[in-house]
Amino acid sequence: MNTATPPIKFGVCGLGRIGAQHCQFFSEDRERYQPVAFCDVDADRARETAAKYHGRPYVDFAEFLADPDMELAIIATRSLDHARHAEQALAAGKIVLLEKPIGVTEKDYDILQRLDREYAGKLYCGQNHRFEPAFQNALAIIREGVLGRVYSIKLTKHHIFMRRSDWQSRLDCGGGQLSVWGPHLLDQALQLLDGSPVRDVWSCLRRVLAAGDADDHARILLKAESGAVAEIEISNSVALPSPYCVIYGERGALMYGQDQKEIRLRHLAPGFQWGEATASTGTPPAAEVWHEGADKLPWIEETRPVTPDVNMWDYVEIELARHLFDAIRKGIPFPVKNPDALEVVRLTEIVKKQNAQFNWVE
Ligand SMILES: NC(=O)c1ccc[n+]([C@@H]2O[C@H](COP(=O)([O-])OP(=O)(O)OC[C@H]3O[C@@H](n4cnc5c(N)ncnc54)[C@H](O)[C@@H]3O)[C@@H](O)[C@H]2O)c1
Repeated sequence: MNTATPPIKFGVCGLGRIGAQHCQFFSEDRERYQPVAFCDVDADRARETAAKYHGRPYVDFAEFLADPDMELAIIATRSLDHARHAEQALAAGKIVLLEKPIGVTEKDYDILQRLDREYAGKLYCGQNHRFEPAFQNALAIIREGVLGRVYSIKLTKHHIFMRRSDWQSRLDCGGGQLSVWGPHLLDQALQLLDGSPVRDVWSCLRRVLAAGDADDHARILLKAESGAVAEIEISNSVALPSPYCVIYGERGALMYGQDQKEIRLRHLAPGFQWGEATASTGTPPAAEVWHEGADKLPWIEETRPVTPDVNMWDYVEIELARHLFDAIRKGIPFPVKNPDALEVVRLTEIVKKQNAQFNWVE
């Protein structure tokens, strides 16, 4: 690839589980990115990561932001720091890729709305699971039209059954599945609702196994203006996982599992049209067929492999880096639009209010 444009010199702040992923995948994309700065309050982490990627280590965020070489600051610190860190980095003149959840509090939501207005084209929201191949394949199938009008969407992230005891299980640290996987599934649900504004939200959050006080089982129902409903379940606490995605349309359905390897489809043949029918008030015959039932219909059943056949976790990072470069250097719109990412924060705030049994950080 010849990008004919200089690589983006980037830095990462927060060199933990996801920060390390960003360091790796952005650095490996050598024609697009050049690593220059690495910041973590853990000085050993900063030094070791900087040595690995031949950049400069920082323990102080302000000094990191003052690095004159760094054009892009990737913020991968703890969730409660995201909005404030993005604000500081933008004020320092950097382009910012902000890890999800982009905001955890109502105050964060206000800050982010202002940043989006004041720093047009500088703030990017890193909701990387938008780029899951299975999700993108499902979107493409819906757009083919074979399912007809979609009226019901179920997205389920069932992690392995586990008791979590890190900071992500504590509300005072910004933890809980609403913040951990909520942004990914809310983002995917909004895409599947196809831009129809969400009018109603119902939710129920629980702590089942987590060692801390945060939610580890979340159910959220969104009803869009179109009438379509998206149901989300995220859990660390189910012993038998459900499929990841089930979508019902007026002409068919699709589903794929937590492994996201293949999509099962069952839909009516494209040429099939229901004939005229009126509903009767009479009693149906006892021994005859009294409905236009499933067995008489021209079904097409398929199992499509998810393409590309890749490691999903790596791929979402590779795609995040590629799309971000295209946005910054080529002006191609970044797929995760800020109003969509802000809508996720708005919905999260509604869910928090509906679940006042939790001691949310204000
Ligand atoms: N998009 C994704 O797929 C994805 C995956 C995992 C985590 N995340 C999000 O990324 C964030 C980080 O999660 P994680 O699992 O990597 O956490 P982590 O605890 O593994 O890493 C956080 C790192 O930030 C450092 N840090 C904390 N405060 C800092 C500060 N003020 N300045 C500099 N460094 C600081 C810590 O020392 C640690 O190294 C969370 O908000 C999480 O929700 C996103």
